[in-house]
Amino acid sequence: MSSSCKIALVLSLLAASLLCALAAGDGQHRPPSKPILTRLAKDPATSLYTASVKNGGGQLVLDLAGPLVWSTCPGQHRTIPCGAGVCTVANRNHRPNCQYTAGSNGGDGGRCACSSTAYNPASGQCGYGDLTTVQLSANATDGKNPLFQVWFSAVASCAPQPLLGSLPSGVAGVAGLSRAPLSLPLQVAAQLKVEKKFALCLPTAGSDGAAIFGGGPFWLQAAPPQQVSDRLRYTPLLKNPKNSAYYIGVTGLAVNNVQVPLPPGALSLSARQGTGGVAVSTATPYTALRSDIYRPVRDAFAAATAGFARAPATGPFDLCYQKSALPSTRIGLYTASIDLMLAGGQNWTIVGSSAVVEVSQAAACFAFVDMGATATPAVDHSPAVIIGGHQMEDNLVVFDLEKWQFGFSGLLLGTMTRCGNFDFSMGSQ
Ligand SMILES: *[C@@H]1O[C@H](CO)[C@@H](O)[C@H](O)[C@H]1NC(C)=O
Ligand SMILES: *[C@@H]1O[C@H](CO)[C@@H](O)[C@H](O)[C@H]1NC(C)=O
Repeated sequence: MSSSCKIALVLSLLAASLLCALAAGDGQHRPPSKPILTRLAKDPATSLYTASVKNGGGQLVLDLAGPLVWSTCPGQHRTIPCGAGVCTVANRNHRPNCQYTAGSNGGDGGRCACSSTAYNPASGQCGYGDLTTVQLSANATDGKNPLFQVWFSAVASCAPQPLLGSLPSGVAGVAGLSRAPLSLPLQVAAQLKVEKKFALCLPTAGSDGAAIFGGGPFWLQAAPPQQVSDRLRYTPLLKNPKNSAYYIGVTGLAVNNVQVPLPPGALSLSARQGTGGVAVSTATPYTALRSDIYRPVRDAFAAATAGFARAPATGPFDLCYQKSALPSTRIGLYTASIDLMLAGGQNWTIVGSSAVVEVSQAAACFAFVDMGATATPAVDHSPAVIIGGHQMEDNLVVFDLEKWQFGFSGLLLGTMTRCGNFDFSMGSQ
């Protein structure tokens, strides 16, 4: 950095802290920082999850592996100079398959305006547009109810309208939730002075879910009400130096408590190449396994459920059952459970009802897919496993970027509650 740059940086930091001090000074009415709550929904057509955080009630698609917030912008919007530090930050983490634009379009009367890359995790397409700032709103929460509305600004990338293809109709863009500095949770933490931590309770289609950004408790209605984040189990979050997605350390997979034989190292993350490992994605409808892992797991699942009458394979699934042949339990269809055996000895258990999905009135299928058959996986660099949305629905999952750990509740139906039980009626402080 040149010395004039350093001086400019110091001056802008001084100006920023002065502004902050002024803002704090007249802020008697400013409520104390609290985490924020957004309502989540699942789009049945695309199996993507949306959050209501956009200015004006629009929806953004959740993308756990996404580095940025992006949306379509009005013709008149603020631009950010190419030389701004945030322009450099926004252009890091760009996808291997997206062209690099280096943040210049020369518009705006010759002044260089920063542009950045927006990525659609469903279609695999890239788009380019100005970097801008948007106003977002959500409710502050005590973890039980919404309390009062808060507005905050966020740096976002403008995307061309066609980039919305393959997303649920009516959404405005995508909220990247990854560990990259301009992801929604990290911008919320910086703007609202809350913890770098967020909780997702993904709903099934037709029901509400909830996300809380900024830490704090997470209550669900039940008899009696449950503070679900108190009873999570945790495993370290792993970083892939090649992307900003979240990974966890899985040492083995088991079906009905019998470990599935896999090639040695099949699940490990290669820090050098950034390949392999077990990533988590809200833009992947069903957990996707690399072909060499998919086949033995599917065969083990088929063997463990050999007694149940089969139905013809359908869609991306190649192991289906007659629904009437599967015993029905309080928590859903009974099949076989799958343990993700975690580094450290504990398990994230996918119970039988989450291991299958009802595809029609008459059939349910093994809800894992062969990654080899997926055109554009939502996480780059060929993970061995991408844990998908269906297996996280009606679970509370917490991404704690303060302690670098991942917390999970297991299927909430097991304790007589579900994500749809979040109480969205206005609370009082
Ligand atoms: C805040 O919560 C209330 C009550 O659920 C809801 O009507 C309102 O839309 C929420 N506001 C925002 C910005 O999400
Ligand atoms: C984890 O799962 C494996 C395979 O099902 C099982 O052998 C082991 O006992 C489980 N560990 C714990 C702590 O439950």
